[in-house]
Amino acid sequence: MSRRGKFITFEGLDGTGKSTQMRKLAAVLREAGHKVVETREPGGTATGERIRRVALDSGTSGLTPLAEMALMFASRAQHIAEVIEPGLAAGAIVLCDRFTDSTEAYQGNGRRLGSDAVRELHRVLCGNLQPDLTILMDSNPQASLNRARRRNQRVSKSSGRSHDENRFEQETRSFFGRVREGYLAIAKREPGRVVIVDARGTPAQTHQKIVEVVSGKLALAGLARRVHHAR
Ligand code: TMP
Repeated sequence: MSRRGKFITFEGLDGTGKSTQMRKLAAVLREAGHKVVETREPGGTATGERIRRVALDSGTSGLTPLAEMALMFASRAQHIAEVIEPGLAAGAIVLCDRFTDSTEAYQGNGRRLGSDAVRELHRVLCGNLQPDLTILMDSNPQASLNRARRRNQRVSKSSGRSHDENRFEQETRSFFGRVREGYLAIAKREPGRVVIVDARGTPAQTHQKIVEVVSGKLALAGLARRVHHAR
């Protein structure tokens, strides 16, 4: 039986470049010989992707904050059972674009449902599964949001889809201010797990920082050499 793998999550405001950085890290880990699973939330399973449509589409009107939180956890419970736990059991490094810290930052802080509710639901619905490492990408909130809005408009126009992923981007500046505060509070509470990475540099600079963090925090074969080479 293979050794249990590692669970690494990427977090941050919309538009901080999480997905790009996750792809780059996945490539480096694969080159170093690791088995890697790349996935995301909400989504990551057929059911989760359907939940994602409902939760992110700007056409979804009148969704209450509690229902929104329940959707995020429904997607996550399915995702853990179908993808994350089997990946870890098979010895893979599971890279996940957002996890429960997103719910704590967006629904707990942004929607003001509170951290306790999120953490309790995480215990009940997710078996309290904790990432081995969380990369929190921190950047200028307004610049990140503008970037996310431009990207989503581009995708909506070019795909010709009847749905979009713009519902959160329509939130106010103060909402995203609370989300960012929520993230920083989590990082302060759990400094052993959550590492803040300054995402204001070029993608290559940010990638280098992330490889250093992963290499420093997790004993992964073949990665230290990569840090050296990239310098
Ligand atoms: P993204 O896939 O582009 O990062 O977008 C996902 C959106 O969903 C983003 O605006 C954050 C939001 N979200 C929550 O509000 N709570 C959650 O638990 C998760 C996973 C995402």
